[in-house]
Amino acid sequence: MTTKRKVILDCDPGQDDAVAILLALASTEIELLAITAVAGNIGIGKTSLNARAVVELAGAETPVYAGCPRPLVRDPVDAAHIHGDSGIDGATLKPPVRPLAAGHAVDFIRDTVRAQPDGEITLVAIGPLTNLAAVLIQAPDVARRVREIVLMGGAIGLGNTTPAAEFNIYADPHAAHVVFTSGARIVMTPLELTHQVLATQDRIQAIRALGSEPARQIAGILDAYPKTTHFGATGGPLHDPCAVAWLLWPELMGGKECRVEIEMSSGPSLGRTVIEWRRQKREANALVLEQVDHATLFQRLIERFAIFR
Ligand code: BDR
Ligand code: CA
Repeated sequence: MTTKRKVILDCDPGQDDAVAILLALASTEIELLAITAVAGNIGIGKTSLNARAVVELAGAETPVYAGCPRPLVRDPVDAAHIHGDSGIDGATLKPPVRPLAAGHAVDFIRDTVRAQPDGEITLVAIGPLTNLAAVLIQAPDVARRVREIVLMGGAIGLGNTTPAAEFNIYADPHAAHVVFTSGARIVMTPLELTHQVLATQDRIQAIRALGSEPARQIAGILDAYPKTTHFGATGGPLHDPCAVAWLLWPELMGGKECRVEIEMSSGPSLGRTVIEWRRQKREANALVLEQVDHATLFQRLIERFAIFR
């Protein structure tokens, strides 16, 4: 019998965050200890509410903790122009019944990691890295205690929010710097990988055809989700589910151990992930994933979502 991976999912739901939460909840390989919310795609009031609504959509009781309401240093930015004013455009979710868990997300993450044997907890971060940075500033020992930090963020090349920067890193570059210099093992799913995992019309239809309420909501979200074209296919890139998928099916992804640095000076490169991709001169601090068997991954996603009734 394989043991489940203990996971804390830090997120800013967010359309693709919602799909990532549902993937984690549908996966018996994952023991989801808690969801921690951070400000990002929309403010903390809505991300923490949306996370609870998605948990209840899945019929789960995973606790949701609210975390940091703003980035460490820079002025807040959001992505309401992508995810809508609710944060989850395309979904019609019931307001959650269960309240937020008592306490701050940062305290919960720190105390939970310390309470478990070293190497036990995986932190999956699919929003700006503010909560994780606050934990690592308060408690640097958390970096060596976690099994790994798996994050959606950054790009090897061009960004999606500015020419240089991907949203999660751009929204809190100083937090990203704290995380990437913490010494924790980091696995990064950048835009080059996530832009291959597209929710095309056929794939959305296959999810809708599953017939359950969660499946219908996922299809609604993916219909509303802005589309991009990659290698001739058009669809919404499933950024955040890729980080959860790494926990489930690492054999479908490939990449390189690299040194990653974060551009923090103001100006056009703010939030860029500067990656030693071609010439690796310095010690690596992250596994940067780039290749993905997206057809198999998407097929498995659909199969997973069939678990919902
Ligand atoms: C990331 O930014 C957010 O808008 C998405 O939820 C995802 O985490 C993609 O750049
Ligand atoms: Ca996100």
